[in-house]
Amino acid sequence: VFHGLSTTVKRTNKIAVVGVNGAGKSTLLKCITAHTEPTAGSVAIGPSIKIGYFSQYSLEVLNPEASVFDEVRKDLPTASDGYIRNLLAAFLFRGQDVDKKVKYLSGGEKSRLVMAVLLSQNNNFLVLDEPTNHLDIKSREVLLDALKRYEGTVMFVSHDRHFLSELAENVYEVDKGEVRIFPGSYVEYMERQ
Ligand SMILES: Nc1ncnc2c1ncn2[C@@H]1O[C@H](COP(=O)(O)OP(=O)(O)OP(=O)(O)O)[C@@H](O)[C@H]1O
Ligand SMILES: [Mg+2]
Repeated sequence: VFHGLSTTVKRTNKIAVVGVNGAGKSTLLKCITAHTEPTAGSVAIGPSIKIGYFSQYSLEVLNPEASVFDEVRKDLPTASDGYIRNLLAAFLFRGQDVDKKVKYLSGGEKSRLVMAVLLSQNNNFLVLDEPTNHLDIKSREVLLDALKRYEGTVMFVSHDRHFLSELAENVYEVDKGEVRIFPGSYVEYMERQ
């Protein structure tokens, strides 16, 4: 898929991974999160790094019979009910929404639920594969705002120009079997193209 990539991701970097369909973006993220093994080479994760990973697959592993509230409660066993309700409200689950069963949620609602959990966990490296898929404009803004305020490192794949422009400090471009690294923002990357 790609070869010859050698790079170090520094703490608090916000890195966009871009490239055409099938370039190898998801594969790169899977290598980093140990969801797949590189054929050659290695990935070293710092000892204090706690990864939170989002992909379309994350939506499928939600328990269909659990409610929105239960699904968050499972990952935050010591949080108060109020904390969970506030968290869910911040991700646009209001009132009765929190009692809905996962199996009745839309794709966008499931994405919001998974992101709410990821952003409330005690992780410091978010690896996000197309987190804005399914999300409407308001939900994208909520997620963008949360990621801007996130104090850890973020590596994300997105095809959303607004999202890329607002968040990416560096750009990794996966293209024709290589990963090219642009040290500048997405806006600077686009100007160079
Ligand atoms: N397990 C596998 N076996 C064989 N080929 C694979 C496997 N996983 C991925 N590929 C191939 O590797 C290439 C890169 O796939 P990948 O999913 O990383 O692309 P992507 O950049 O994320 O694309 P998209 O923008 O469509 O999500 C594709 O040609 C894909 O078919
Ligand atoms: Mg992909």
